[in-house]
Amino acid sequence: MRIMVTGASGLLGKTLCPILEEEGFQYWACNSKIFDVTNTKMVKEIMNKINLDFIVHLAGYTNIDLAEDNPELAFSVNQLGTRNIARIAKKHDIPILYVSTNNVFDGNSTTPYKTTDVTNPINVYGKSKLAGEREIIKATKKHYILRTSWLYGTGGYVDAMLTFSNFKKEISVVNDQIGCPTSCEDLSRKIVEIIKENKPYGIYHVTSSGSASWAEYTKKIFEFKKRNVEVNAIDKSDFPRPAKRPKYCVLDNNNILPDWKNSLKKYLVAKK
Ligand SMILES: NC(=O)c1ccc[n+]([C@@H]2O[C@H](COP(=O)([O-])OP(=O)(O)OC[C@H]3O[C@@H](n4cnc5c(N)ncnc54)[C@H](OP(=O)(O)O)[C@@H]3O)[C@@H](O)[C@H]2O)c1
Repeated sequence: MRIMVTGASGLLGKTLCPILEEEGFQYWACNSKIFDVTNTKMVKEIMNKINLDFIVHLAGYTNIDLAEDNPELAFSVNQLGTRNIARIAKKHDIPILYVSTNNVFDGNSTTPYKTTDVTNPINVYGKSKLAGEREIIKATKKHYILRTSWLYGTGGYVDAMLTFSNFKKEISVVNDQIGCPTSCEDLSRKIVEIIKENKPYGIYHVTSSGSASWAEYTKKIFEFKKRNVEVNAIDKSDFPRPAKRPKYCVLDNNNILPDWKNSLKKYLVAKK
């Protein structure tokens, strides 16, 4: 099976690609330098020349704060880029898997969001990712939209906290924003399962199970890795940022992945 992975150089792509390799798939790993998804002409030319069986579309404009001042860029990558890839998928009758975000919801719920709940993004990033979802749905029935949240993997938040613990003994972290930390490895293995098992097309919520605030999550990182760092829980109003974040962004995942604490422990045990 020949798979194209856009956004392969990103946080998730760096975990997914070695797993595709391990599973014996042939894959083409692209980044923005070799395959700019916003370049409609180039996307068509290249895609018309290659034979593919599946597209994993991870490429995205992902800087939530910078997106507020650069909406054109965010929409260009997340909407136009996704439209380009989705139309090609339709033309060649190839299934496409798109990774989306809990930022498509407004965070006003008090219970986990279901795939059928009304979307209402409150930041530019969320709006542009939702526009990407809609492009895919409009272009082709053969789609998987996987909404996930708070990904960690090599070079991500957890690693940054471990590096931080080498230099500092105290950190302030937001306590009134609730979500679910999700392991890139767990998500990647679920992506592989979807590719292999021809699951029904549609929207899936693929996060770890359970929920936490950023402060609880950060405390667990230091606790599991036995790092002596004090975590001061603060309100998000004490840490203003350009983009609004949904206050409660837990997704109802049907227990599709293990509890976040178990996966975090596993990730940390495997790290030197
Ligand atoms: N990280 C999270 O917590 C999270 C949560 C929910 C959903 N997601 C979604 O999951 C996907 C992967 O996220 P990530 O954290 O791995 O992202 P990331 O680390 O920011 O990587 C983004 C990737 O997209 C590529 N890219 C950006 N602009 C492009 C363009 N114009 N053409 C082609 N490729 C382009 C980048 O290539 P270069 O290296 O060349 O710039 C990079 O490979 C994204 O779609 C994101 O919206 C992420």
